[in-house]
Amino acid sequence: MATIRLGDEAPNFTAQTSEGQINFHEWLGDSWGILFSHPADYTPVCTTELGTVAKYTEEFNKRNVKVMALSVDGVESHHGWIKDINETQNTTVNFPIIADEDGKVSELYDMIHPNADSKLTVRSVFVIGNDKKVKLIITYPASTGRNFEELLRVIDSLQLTAYHKVATPANWKHGEDVVISPAISTADAKNIFTKGVNEIKPYLRMTPQPNLD
Ligand code: BEZ
Repeated sequence: MATIRLGDEAPNFTAQTSEGQINFHEWLGDSWGILFSHPADYTPVCTTELGTVAKYTEEFNKRNVKVMALSVDGVESHHGWIKDINETQNTTVNFPIIADEDGKVSELYDMIHPNADSKLTVRSVFVIGNDKKVKLIITYPASTGRNFEELLRVIDSLQLTAYHKVATPANWKHGEDVVISPAISTADAKNIFTKGVNEIKPYLRMTPQPNLD
């Protein structure tokens, strides 16, 4: 297992999932992706997480993001658990869950942290760009359910900054002003960002979010 770092190509794999055998890169196609791990099937926090993600389908679709979950239990277990998730969370799980019984994918993505638990995966999140490169890695402990609003917020930032020479400030949300990349001179910024440049300091220049009408 090699360490995965931002900018690396997301390791490819073929795995059994709740939706059949999937080759990860083929399945991603031209989409962005989220790969996120769950300690085990039939556990309470994971149940709420998968239900929440299913409810955000439209938000992920709008951003051209495909979602794949992982748990170290088998396909039959996943099918039974999905029924429970749909029933208790009032939703329809419509994304694949990897049945990583042999730990192959968990190992590949370093999702088992032995000093936290020797067998169960931690709550890892990998956001993968449409170039198959790893754009974000977050790791939560088993006891803390993830904030998927935050994940959408980061994806908005990643997709914006991939195409515009800007960065997003603390607590930024879609629609708010952004920071102009330090690599651009203020003179150039005034030509590029026609909605206006607010120079607070020579190194701190703000502009309205450029990809909005
Ligand atoms: C859960 O998903 O609820 C969970 C899993 C492992 C440890 C603690 C909570």
